[in-house]
Amino acid sequence: MRALLMLTALTFIISCKQAKKSGEIEDTPIQTEVDTEDLAIRGENLLSTYCYQCHDPKMSMDNILAPPMIAVKNHYIMEGTTKEAFVADLLEWMSGPSAEKSKMPDAVEKYELMNHQVYPDSVIIGIAEYLYDNEVEQPEWYEKHHEEMHGSEEE
Ligand code: HEC
Repeated sequence: MRALLMLTALTFIISCKQAKKSGEIEDTPIQTEVDTEDLAIRGENLLSTYCYQCHDPKMSMDNILAPPMIAVKNHYIMEGTTKEAFVADLLEWMSGPSAEKSKMPDAVEKYELMNHQVYPDSVIIGIAEYLYDNEVEQPEWYEKHHEEMHGSEEE
């Protein structure tokens, strides 16, 4: 009798544990979707807060104060550029812009050298990872300008 009681208690405990486990599994996929979306929203927010004051893709070609981020991306990320290398390049640029470091000398000539903007590394890394992984908003005028500058054979 005592043994039977023990067995019943044990079965009860085990089934409780399993019920809890299956509950946890159901939650997982929803969590992942939210995370990816969160990261994209966070990246957009960082760009608008820290960079779009000058690099704003909504500005016309005559009024924009710096090359749009899509142009920066095209000059910094070549075939074979890894995410780590791009993050490192952006950190290097942000640590102190100079004509020698520039990968966009035409932009330095046109817009003048970017002022040194001091932001925490975490912000710059967040922006770099977002730019690398996502399509960045491009101004309406950009495609035509890009073709005029570099020809369409690049595409
Ligand atoms: C106050 C205006 C201003 C702000 C804010 C600004 N930039 Fe710039 N940026 C410029 C200008 C002007 C240029 C073009 C001249 C140059 O390349 O230095 C430029 C060029 C760049 C370049 C190309 C550098 C090269 O190789 O010549 C990168 C990369 C860049 N910016 C990243 C950023 C990022 C990332 C942010 C936000 C965290 C940011 N900038 C915020 C003005 C700004």
